[in-house]
Amino acid sequence: MIFSLAPMEGITGHVFRRVHAECFGPLDRYYTPFLAPPHVGSSFGGKAFKEIDPANNQGLAVVPQLLTNDADKFVWASRLLSDMGYAEVNLNLGCPSGTVVAKGRGSGFLRDLPALEVFLKDVCERSCLPVSVKTRIGILDDSEYDRILELYRSFPLKELIVHPRVQKDRYEGVPRQREYGKTLERAPFPVAYNGDIFGPGDMDSLLEAYPETSHVMVGRGLLTNPALVRMLKGGPSASATELKDFHDRLFSAYEDAIGGNAVFRMKEWWSYARFAFADPRAVHRAVRKTRKIEEYTAAVERVFRTQRLADVALFPGTEEL
Ligand SMILES: Cc1cc2nc3c(=O)[nH]c(=O)nc-3n(C[C@H](O)[C@H](O)[C@H](O)COP(=O)(O)O)c2cc1C
Repeated sequence: MIFSLAPMEGITGHVFRRVHAECFGPLDRYYTPFLAPPHVGSSFGGKAFKEIDPANNQGLAVVPQLLTNDADKFVWASRLLSDMGYAEVNLNLGCPSGTVVAKGRGSGFLRDLPALEVFLKDVCERSCLPVSVKTRIGILDDSEYDRILELYRSFPLKELIVHPRVQKDRYEGVPRQREYGKTLERAPFPVAYNGDIFGPGDMDSLLEAYPETSHVMVGRGLLTNPALVRMLKGGPSASATELKDFHDRLFSAYEDAIGGNAVFRMKEWWSYARFAFADPRAVHRAVRKTRKIEEYTAAVERVFRTQRLADVALFPGTEEL
């Protein structure tokens, strides 16, 4: 079984991947949060460059993800990424955000299948790297997926990662796993599953229904429970000491990378990590208003001193957030 870390903009970037791998061992694969490809002839700059800089990703199997509907930019970016030593490039056809969808990118590209077909034909022919796709199953309802899957089937994709929700679902409701099952049956290329694998029970159910599963991508579940993949392989949950050590290293790495903004970044992580504690509300109250580094450090120290871990660290789903 391949276990990979989901791309999560603002969260699972190079700092998170490295620290998580140091503390809990590397996952089989990591996908970068989406990157906008540069203009043809230009290089990746600033934050995007840091994300893919090989120096920041040493020893990890990283697949860069692009968010675009411009084939020339995609092909250009694939050349830059190939020159940097990457072996695959992933296309984001899942992002549900209003602004992205309005521009016909992410899951918004699924609204115009003829244009998507032209795009995929072009990039599959010209990309310097094999192309994989991370997709939702439609915009409004799952009946759209048959046509979408038929379209994908005509291209030599390296892999298709299915997050079986439609754009309208955002991150709510139950993943429509039947559509993932259809993909397993019909796709001529490798298929990965993503969506709501928060604990061993979710994994067992997935494997019971779809025993052919060979690649599972986890996102929010691993933010709540950094030992999730270890547990999915039959290992122990994270101890309080492990969680504190992971926190401290993550915070310190963010401080090195982004200075005072590290507190904001950590609060984003806490919005998931609080569910590792028996009283998530108390954790949330303790951390949420902190701004300065000293305030934050004191609040976190108090949390680890006074709050007990939950029996099972389980992300509860978006409705609870
Ligand atoms: C805050 C946030 C940021 C995300 N950023 C990306 C992204 O950059 N690219 C992408 O393909 N999916 C992105 N996703 C979707 C996740 O990769 C994943 O598909 C989703 O969280 C479902 O998996 P999970 O239930 O294991 O979390 C994001 C999700 C969240 C909540």
